[in-house]
Amino acid sequence: MITIEREISALKEYADHLKSLSDIDKHSRFGYTPSDYVIDQLIMKIVNNPNDHVLFRSSEPSGETTGWGHMAKDGSSYELAVSVDSKHQRKGIGSRLIGEMLIWAKFHNINEVYMHCIESNKVIQHLALKHNLITRERGYGERTAALEIPEPSWFEKNAKFWKDQNNILDEYTELNRRMTHLMFGKHTNT
Ligand SMILES: CC(C)(COP(=O)(O)OP(=O)(O)OC[C@H]1O[C@@H](n2cnc3c(N)ncnc32)[C@H](O)[C@@H]1OP(=O)(O)O)[C@@H](O)C(=O)NCCC(=O)NCCS
Repeated sequence: MITIEREISALKEYADHLKSLSDIDKHSRFGYTPSDYVIDQLIMKIVNNPNDHVLFRSSEPSGETTGWGHMAKDGSSYELAVSVDSKHQRKGIGSRLIGEMLIWAKFHNINEVYMHCIESNKVIQHLALKHNLITRERGYGERTAALEIPEPSWFEKNAKFWKDQNNILDEYTELNRRMTHLMFGKHTNT
């Protein structure tokens, strides 16, 4: 399941995830190997400019977090970044996170998104191409993958409508559960 995180408490988990990446994955994600201090500085940027960042969390049905997508506003574009916990890589999670970020961009009138890919990272280059991002060499062993965001298709609008309906239903069910608990003072999962 992929959810958008707006709670400040999610930032600590995001920071812990980034710090726990292997040095190779950190290098692939950032283009260098940041220290924990530098990762904390990145998180502080999100805290200070929450409207310029959107975080996507991927989790298992058990609730275990498996990976994160991060969209950071840069003028009229957004920079995308994605990272998946090593034990959950190659299960399709990175691809789903990129897909969800692109759908979000389509429904928020974003003109363009881009992603930095280091030359040796063939997996992210493959995923960029799979999602129609066009990669260009930038020199110094780096590529940029960019996409001008088209209008959402009829199919995507329809899928979003049903997803929104399901979210409303889930929220209503949760509200109902809490009200029952308040009125009758007991826990219920129904
Ligand atoms: C890059 C990363 C996000 C990919 O996540 P993932 O969940 O493992 O990726 P997925 O399982 O969704 O997809 C992997 C794809 O790469 C393909 N692949 C695997 N090895 C490959 C290789 N050597 N060359 C090309 N493609 C390869 C797989 O076949 C799969 O393709 P498919 O979706 O068409 O079947 C993950 O490896 C990661 O977190 N890396 C460290 C951080 C990083 O590099 N981030 C990207 C820069 S922001």
